[in-house]
Amino acid sequence: METKLHNFYDFRAYARKKLPRLLFEYIDRGTEDEIALTELRQSLDSVRFVPEVLSGLETVQTDFMFAEKTHALPLVIAPTALAGLVSFDGEVKLARAAERARIPFTISTQSVTPVEHIRAGVPDADLWFQLYVWKNRALTDQLLDRVWASGVTTLVITADTPVSPNREYNLKNGFSIPFRPSIRAGLDVATHPRWFFRVLLPYLRSGGMPSYGHYPQDFRHNVTSSVQSQDLQLENLLNWNDVAELRKKWRGEIIVKGILSVNDAQKARAIGADGIVVSAHGGRNLDIAVTPLDVLGQVVEALNNRLAVFVDSGVRRGSDVLKLLSYGAKAVFIGRAPLWGLAAADEQGADAMIAILAMELQKAMTMLGRVSINDLKNVTRFVSR
Ligand SMILES: Cc1cc2nc3c(=O)[nH]c(=O)nc-3n(C[C@H](O)[C@H](O)[C@H](O)COP(=O)(O)O)c2cc1C
Repeated sequence: METKLHNFYDFRAYARKKLPRLLFEYIDRGTEDEIALTELRQSLDSVRFVPEVLSGLETVQTDFMFAEKTHALPLVIAPTALAGLVSFDGEVKLARAAERARIPFTISTQSVTPVEHIRAGVPDADLWFQLYVWKNRALTDQLLDRVWASGVTTLVITADTPVSPNREYNLKNGFSIPFRPSIRAGLDVATHPRWFFRVLLPYLRSGGMPSYGHYPQDFRHNVTSSVQSQDLQLENLLNWNDVAELRKKWRGEIIVKGILSVNDAQKARAIGADGIVVSAHGGRNLDIAVTPLDVLGQVVEALNNRLAVFVDSGVRRGSDVLKLLSYGAKAVFIGRAPLWGLAAADEQGADAMIAILAMELQKAMTMLGRVSINDLKNVTRFVSR
């Protein structure tokens, strides 16, 4: 592996060289004027802590528990659509990296590789499944049956995407699903032959253009197909009653992802969710949304340990993880970080990116004189924003 890759930003820069621009920007960018994306950094950068010195700590504890399972680090790999385009079999590679780091991996409804295939590649991994409810509810139920049959018990229902976000750069770059070939996109791929040979070609050789792996057989078409069924459109009318229904049907844990208010957090609790993810979707959805850090403290306080509070968006350093944990989050979802790891140096890169975040977190905890995640909640903190 490239030895000059020391942090998130190094991996991102290296990934930029390797991926076609349309794919790099699809992962990297936000929405509209990218105000939300900028604000995510500003909010995290505005937090400071008062260290306690000479604490004599040999090790720090970074494990967390959810659903009676212990995880070694307070990290969860977030669901990211089409992660399989970053590297051939990318979702299996990310799941293996998560397993090695002893953290959960969340499979996206829109992954290239279906849940059964991922499970076969990582029989013992803690796999979670992110659900986008399709307009055709019967097909959604069938998908959930497949997920359950694959031994996945934690369902992450994404609640913050009632419409397709306005990402103009995707249109400019010719990155759309279904994919519409254009001269610009063709040139982009042609100038990244490594990606073509290492990622696209293996898919072409093993069954055709990569597609959304969870589409039912009758509806399967590849990511370049111009036919898209209404049945598989994301349900724009999704509401709390639907989530309550899913709660009744699903026998495992339910986490509602994309919450940014105390009120919605309370609703998630009222329908019997086991957890929420306070999330701005990585600054990719609503450009005028508050940041998770703006609301996290209030949400944690209002829920008062009655369900697990996870958080994500904008994490680039282990110290960002620490900041979010200090507000009472149980663990932090990471989206782009493992993707840059995978893009820059494949499976080893994903391992390295997780290890770097862990190292940064551990160093910051030690410098603050805090031995456990729970201890982080009472560090003196200043916020300059
Ligand atoms: C390329 C990409 C694809 C994503 N796809 C999904 C998805 O399919 N479902 C979902 O709930 N969130 C999706 N997200 C959002 C992530 O789950 C997560 O909320 C976000 O990436 C966290 O911010 P970070 O990337 O700054 O860590 C995606 C994010 C990225 C970067």
